[in-house]
Amino acid sequence: EIYEQPGLIRALTKYYFDGEGQETLANISNLKPGRFLVNACGTANYAGLVIKDYIENFNRIPCQVDLASEFRYRNPLILKDDIGLFVSQSGETADTLAAQNLCKQSGIKTLSIVNVEGSTLYRDCDHNLLIRAGIEIGVASTKAFTQQALTGRLLSHALGDGVEKKKLKDKFNLLATRIDELLSRAEDLKSIAESIHNYKGFFYTGRGSLFPVALEGALKLKEIAYVHAEGYASGELKHGPIALIDEEMVNIALVAPELLDKTISNVEEIKARKGIIVVIGPENDANSKRVSDYFFPLNYEGLGELGAVYCNVANQILAYYMARFKGTDIDKPRNLAKSVTVE
Ligand code: AGP
Repeated sequence: EIYEQPGLIRALTKYYFDGEGQETLANISNLKPGRFLVNACGTANYAGLVIKDYIENFNRIPCQVDLASEFRYRNPLILKDDIGLFVSQSGETADTLAAQNLCKQSGIKTLSIVNVEGSTLYRDCDHNLLIRAGIEIGVASTKAFTQQALTGRLLSHALGDGVEKKKLKDKFNLLATRIDELLSRAEDLKSIAESIHNYKGFFYTGRGSLFPVALEGALKLKEIAYVHAEGYASGELKHGPIALIDEEMVNIALVAPELLDKTISNVEEIKARKGIIVVIGPENDANSKRVSDYFFPLNYEGLGELGAVYCNVANQILAYYMARFKGTDIDKPRNLAKSVTVE
């Protein structure tokens, strides 16, 4: 499913830029949200955080992202111009459905970014944007995250982002090409995984658009390799968690061209405390190479806001090989269900 992603991105691009999806986007473009209330769980919630970045940056529309399991219990403020936005692969996640129901009962419009056409969420929402990821069998969601985030970028475009359609379409196709190239270097990630898979714990760190990717990368590692991993905003570690750093802890630092210097200085704080440093960062950045014990280069050139989706594929491959070396069941990890249809 990881390897399906370039093809799925190209197909999503064709569908929404040149195919039947154009009409769906045209209908969505008439929505006038005062604010989006985004609700989702797990990986879909992290995709929701990426989507929040897109909509707040390109459309200047406020987006509040909630863990769907928390939303209905915190007596949320639901305002008349709000639109509920629900991100889900299955469209059957109990907590996400309950959040959608609360929004519906409150009289606001609801919109899904969902994979399964005809799912409960799909049927209950006023509008739907299908992510067209095909059937996702793996319990640990990979291609759905990518398609959720990209469909969120298309939502932002439909709402009026001031970006020329062809420019965005070319960027989507460039992303597919870059992921193809990244996947051709999977062996390099395999050798990093072989070197680090027995360490005690893992901190994924990222800033800005890479913070949600750090959360998602850590979740992948927990889910399929059964190792303790946490996703953190790079600048947050010094407010306590850095106490955990020692020579048995690995920092998987996600580095993008934006906020690069600050991110590198966060990595140096960890290195100074003997943490093992893996940098997944810009191929031409000397500092990323200098601070890392293990370095996996990325070519972000021209990807802009899609860089987060690109970087995440490296995390997927790393988690896959970590699990392989740990000997865990990658497709059906212990304790997990593909769709959490109970509270
Ligand atoms: C992701 O790898 C997990 N399988 C899980 O966090 C999942 O994303 C979450 O349960 C939400 O599921 P949904 O997308 O089907 O709503």
